[in-house]
Amino acid sequence: MSMTRISLSLAAAGLMSATLAQAGEVEVLHWWTSGGEAKAAAELKASMQKKGHSWKDFAVAGGGGDSAMTVLKSRVVSGNAPAAAQIKGPSIQEWAREGVLANMDDVAKAEKWDELLPKAIADGLKYKGNYVAAPVNVHRVNWLWANPEAFKKAGAKLPTTWDEFFVAAEALKKAGIIPVAHGGQNWQDFTTFESVALGVGGADFYKKALVQLDAGSLKSPTMEKVLGTFKKVKTYTDKNAPGRDWNLATAMVIKGEAGMQLMGDWAKGEFIAAGKVPGKDFACVAAPGTAKSYTYNVDSFALFKLKDPANQKAQQDLAAAIMSTDFQEVFNLNKGSIPVRLGMKLDKFDDCAKTSAADFVSTAKAGSLVPSIAHGMAVPSAAEGAIKDVVSQFWNDDKMTSASAMDKLVAAAKTK
Ligand code: GAL
Repeated sequence: MSMTRISLSLAAAGLMSATLAQAGEVEVLHWWTSGGEAKAAAELKASMQKKGHSWKDFAVAGGGGDSAMTVLKSRVVSGNAPAAAQIKGPSIQEWAREGVLANMDDVAKAEKWDELLPKAIADGLKYKGNYVAAPVNVHRVNWLWANPEAFKKAGAKLPTTWDEFFVAAEALKKAGIIPVAHGGQNWQDFTTFESVALGVGGADFYKKALVQLDAGSLKSPTMEKVLGTFKKVKTYTDKNAPGRDWNLATAMVIKGEAGMQLMGDWAKGEFIAAGKVPGKDFACVAAPGTAKSYTYNVDSFALFKLKDPANQKAQQDLAAAIMSTDFQEVFNLNKGSIPVRLGMKLDKFDDCAKTSAADFVSTAKAGSLVPSIAHGMAVPSAAEGAIKDVVSQFWNDDKMTSASAMDKLVAAAKTK
């Protein structure tokens, strides 16, 4: 072998070991297991594999993520944290205070995150001024999904107020269609509850009661009206609702077995994955009474401290990939949400997403953009869990009065 060939092959071997040394593994905890969610998660996996890293899937099924959070706690306590975990809102601060999250400032500075994110959202991703989490999207929670065929059959009109909602529900029922597709799991009860609270009480009431946890609002004539409306929604759900997964409830609307579902726009991911076209096969309208408000839910990945340098590099590549324009587009097209990164073109997005993006901006200006309590954005996790339990108790127990539910809400709000 000539000298040149030897040195060339040495150089090639050197290059190879350099790439091998950089290739790491990212283990990612999430709960995206439904049709639309899994497609979105697959995009994240693909973007990491493109960079030469391997992906270790740590999916814990269960909408809303309660089971995933329980599993995560035991993993971190036993000193075996994944590289990244889907953690949102005030919980990011709770995890950071434990000292287990990694500082992502090198990536954030290089990629200019401060310029690419709304300040209020960026602040929630930082602990003591350093980024510890990377955001993927903005979900709007206060949506109503409807099957236009079912509405036509029932001679019903898409509701914009709660009064109209019950008129439509009654017409659907008469036509032999289940009016409201619901899954009786406490996070789904809570999702319905917060949309009712926003629609009946308005954004200022929502903020006082469900963000500031003001006792005078949690026990008030407005809350009494919210609870009454919430309980009335239940009368239009079917007897098989208890325990049903949210995506199975969405499937009932897709098939026309049910007329409507109150759910965040991850439900759109299911319609899209089933090949349905927005505006034709299904309708997205703001939950009754909430067209001028917006409950936001930002999915983000908190990054845990790792020891292995190759895995640290893979983790940084993951953080950078998450905020890239390509990923923000393809992920959100599948997920039903909109990009969280500012200044992105929305040409490929449908009208539901375009409405969401426009309303995100206009409600922020008007002061009616509020964090979703049901999806971990509004209050510390202990209070959230306690309030969620009261809401489900009230939903399930037909003997429980509004007065007793309100007393329990006030007590639950004090949980630390
Ligand atoms: C939410 C999460 C969404 C969606 C939903 C149902 O809490 O933010 O991404 O997946 O749960 O699982």
